[in-house]
Amino acid sequence: MVTAPTTNRRLIKWVEEMTRLCKPERVHWCDGSQEEYDRLCQLMVDGGTFTPLNPAKRPKCFLARSHASDVARVEDRTYICSRSKDDAGPTNNWTDPDEIKRILMASYDGCMRGRTMYVIPFSMGPYSSPIAKIGVEITDSPYVVVNMRIMTRMGQGALDALGDRDFVPCLHSVGAPLAPGQKDAPWPCEPDPAKKYIVHFPEERMIWSYGSGYGGNALLGKKCLSLRIASVIARAEGWMAEHMVILALTSPAGKTYYVCAAFPSACGKTNLAMMQPSLPGWKVRCIGDDIAWIRLGEDGRLYAMNPETGFFGVAPGTSNESNPNALKTIERNTIFTNVGLTPDGDVWWEDMGVPPPLRQIDWEGKEWTPDCGRKAAHPNARFTTPAAQCPVIDPDWENPAGVPISAFLFGGRRPSVIPLVNEAFNWEHGVFMGSAAGSETTTAALGKAGVLRRDPFAMLPFCGYHMGDYLTHWLSMAGRTDRAKLPKVFFVNWFRKGPDGKWLWPGYGENARVLKWICERVDGAGKFRQTPIGNLPTPDALDLSGLKMNAADLEQLLAVDTEGWKREAADIEDYYALFGSRLPQALRAELEGLRRRLG
Ligand code: OXD
Ligand code: MN
Repeated sequence: MVTAPTTNRRLIKWVEEMTRLCKPERVHWCDGSQEEYDRLCQLMVDGGTFTPLNPAKRPKCFLARSHASDVARVEDRTYICSRSKDDAGPTNNWTDPDEIKRILMASYDGCMRGRTMYVIPFSMGPYSSPIAKIGVEITDSPYVVVNMRIMTRMGQGALDALGDRDFVPCLHSVGAPLAPGQKDAPWPCEPDPAKKYIVHFPEERMIWSYGSGYGGNALLGKKCLSLRIASVIARAEGWMAEHMVILALTSPAGKTYYVCAAFPSACGKTNLAMMQPSLPGWKVRCIGDDIAWIRLGEDGRLYAMNPETGFFGVAPGTSNESNPNALKTIERNTIFTNVGLTPDGDVWWEDMGVPPPLRQIDWEGKEWTPDCGRKAAHPNARFTTPAAQCPVIDPDWENPAGVPISAFLFGGRRPSVIPLVNEAFNWEHGVFMGSAAGSETTTAALGKAGVLRRDPFAMLPFCGYHMGDYLTHWLSMAGRTDRAKLPKVFFVNWFRKGPDGKWLWPGYGENARVLKWICERVDGAGKFRQTPIGNLPTPDALDLSGLKMNAADLEQLLAVDTEGWKREAADIEDYYALFGSRLPQALRAELEGLRRRLG
């Protein structure tokens, strides 16, 4: 038994128990040092998991290719195992916690044979933040260790911050024990999807993950701790754990506004967080691209903090046009997973904005040519990169107090009906907007125009308890402070299409024009008209200088489609039925109010 670099009795006992259960060949307590990171990267190069990229092009960068069965978060294998099924609610998978423990204890028994068990103490949030939380992840994956070092404050510092206090135990195994003499796979995992489990125990505040080595399934500080478990803790402690970007917008006059925005996956959150505004004199600084922990400050305002220290971003689609700052962030010290490898030792992916090389190695390790009919990068290929390297990182991104929020934005991909931007009348109306967020998907195979997947607050896969109670928690914030100090709430839709199927709004850096109006509204200025659905900008309220925009398109973007909204209201009512008696009365009243105003 290695000597533990801590006196925390519960931690020592847990590591001993897990060692007896998982039966690793050795145990390593991670100190979080650069030397440890470099050594593990080299270990993975030697073992075939990592390919070093060309140091002249991408210094200290590596490429990993995952197993074809292990490429994304597995929502259907993700469980909230509260004691009562009701507490997990209708939007989560649930199994009895004792039952799932029995299944998983059998899986974990001996699961680390032939491997090293790594113990990763980590902090979500700066150590001195009033809401920072310490977790300890036990894993048999060195890939997880090096990714966690980029994404969290990890190692001895976290252990020191923990002291003798409580922590969130996070147990992870790739589920691929090695027999004596067996050669390891480059990406060990449990290939059978039915044997993968991502399990949360909200009452015990504990996470068990088995069988996957990829992203949110394995980097347990991210979605598992910082959203699913943190949402449960936040509700109990009176704060909020949200799936939101945090950005700072500075006007030409030098005034800074902090904005938190929640969008479902694949709506360009990372692009928004690091946006290069098209409007002269406006600046965007990034504080976080995925998760915001939000608490009431002593002055009664809401403050947002990014619990992470890195970006785990989707590579395909990241280009000089969509996100120049992300491209600069990933020039060095970055781990790429499932992208293409060019002959000169660099990376390539679809919609990178540069022509593909004439040949390369694709994410599955196969020879790729432009005419081969396959994608070079997996659509969910990722980069793991330090936030500190982002050229537009905000000077306050590590402020333990967080930053005071001026506005919340909700959104989704809504090709029809929903206007470009819509300001809520008040907090309750804003919570109503957030509860009805969602994206339309195209189901080309079925020939249907689009299927709307509601994704309240973009938290559908990430809320660790009953969604109806989550909505109640949001509403309750109004009772905890002076309403006038609460952020204003807006619903935005960058994805509106015209009848010909063409985008009506250019998006990306041009979204600054919408953000400018939002800042004006925060200041009580900005022209608007009150409509049945909310406050909409008048057509002359948006700064469109230098943008070629035809008046008819603008009119559509800012119109109220009454018939469309009546259908929307009916659809929200159907969706709300899911929450039964746990739907807050105030939201039912909002829905009725909308209907009444629509006439
Ligand atoms: C993510 C997601 O990976 O939201 O961040 O899916
Ligand atoms: Mn996310």
